[in-house]
Amino acid sequence: MLFPEIMPSVFIKTYGCQMNERDSEAVAAQLVAKGYSLAKSEALADVVLLNTCSVRDAAEQKAMNKMKNLAGTARKERPDQILGYLGCMAQSRGKELIDKLPDVDLVLGTQKFHRAAEYLDEIISGKRKKIVDVAAEEKSEATIREHLLNGSAKTSVSAFVSIMQGCNQHCTFCIVPSTRGEERSRTIPDIVAECRELVARGVREITLLGQIVTSFGKRDYPLLDGKSAFVQLLEAVHEIDGLERIRFTSPHPKGYGDDLVEAYARLPKLCESAHIPLQSGSDRLLKLMHRGYTREKFLGIIEKLRRAKPGIGITTDIIVGFPGETEEDFEQTLSLCREAQFDNAYIFKYSPRRDTPAAEMPDQVPQEIREERNHRLLDLVNEIAARKYDSFIGKQVEILVEGPSKKNAARYTGRTRCNRIVLFNGSARHQSQLMDVKIERTGSFTLYGDPAVVNL
Ligand code: 5AD
Repeated sequence: MLFPEIMPSVFIKTYGCQMNERDSEAVAAQLVAKGYSLAKSEALADVVLLNTCSVRDAAEQKAMNKMKNLAGTARKERPDQILGYLGCMAQSRGKELIDKLPDVDLVLGTQKFHRAAEYLDEIISGKRKKIVDVAAEEKSEATIREHLLNGSAKTSVSAFVSIMQGCNQHCTFCIVPSTRGEERSRTIPDIVAECRELVARGVREITLLGQIVTSFGKRDYPLLDGKSAFVQLLEAVHEIDGLERIRFTSPHPKGYGDDLVEAYARLPKLCESAHIPLQSGSDRLLKLMHRGYTREKFLGIIEKLRRAKPGIGITTDIIVGFPGETEEDFEQTLSLCREAQFDNAYIFKYSPRRDTPAAEMPDQVPQEIREERNHRLLDLVNEIAARKYDSFIGKQVEILVEGPSKKNAARYTGRTRCNRIVLFNGSARHQSQLMDVKIERTGSFTLYGDPAVVNL
């Protein structure tokens, strides 16, 4: 037994998306429930877990370099420290990660988060030396339930709830179908029960999470009055008393049927904000990417949403340098961005992923062209975003206060319904409040508000 008297401490570092954040939180909650403490830093921890991302090569390299450094320090200073990989890269690389770096003790795939405590126990007690488990597991989508609400202030008013796992869309650039598997959805009553419990513990805003949330429950819940299973879920969550705001991520554009557009107009708790991944403005590329829509269709969705909810915040993801992307294709993306006027866009340089069709496609775009297109698109997107931010100056907006800002404790941070961060001079009495502020100025991707003007 390595830790005979006291229970071990754990440090979990998360790479990648909100789903990964949520998974890490569930693993942390699971370990805390078993008596672990949460270490303040990796150097102080008995167990260090890296919850990894595979979506681009850079994310994998980051986690592998981190693990190499951890192993180096552990070998010199903490020979008992236990090191593990969790999540997407663990799933896609499996045992190879231990072959590469034998200091790693645990490799736990995306359907196995609920086994973390049990496996760590076995390693700590010396029963097993190394554990790799990346097998599929029936019903694992329903196992991410535990929440750590006593952690940061942010999690106490706003929480993420995982509603489904996996993706069947098979976009040709994307590794997610192999890291997260086939689409599997939780049931509506199960999700609603978790949301109710969170609200009873003080949560006022819930973000429903999944790799392709608009495909939620497709096989399990038939259309009801023309409404998809996902819209049925939104309605059920909307019923919860005390819940003030509902968000979701990530949807697929093909999921924005009239039923969902209409839900924005009909369900007041559904925040007027949408992150709708575009990927490209060129029909030719959208086809090669296997996205299942055209630029016209995409622009049509945005128009309908803005008509249903004027002021809706719309953000997107775009890939530059997908194989075969010509200057003309790229200009189509630029022109779509000018038309769509996104509130913000996340731009990614195409990164070939193992076992994806795009990695084998001809005409891979040279690195320097990917860089150049990245800069050009970023300039355009930032210019539009800045203009949009400036248009808030002088306006009164409702924010939900999440807690003190990390950088400056005298400042509090909240979010508008359209998902913009607002900083204001606040104090503990503002914590978790829904309040109106007047926007006085803007910073980079931040609004600065004054509550005194309207909340005296
Ligand atoms: N290369 C670059 N970007 C990618 N994304 C997904 N796969 C890749 C890839 N192979 C981007 C997409 C997606 C976001 C989460 O990451 O834009 O929406």
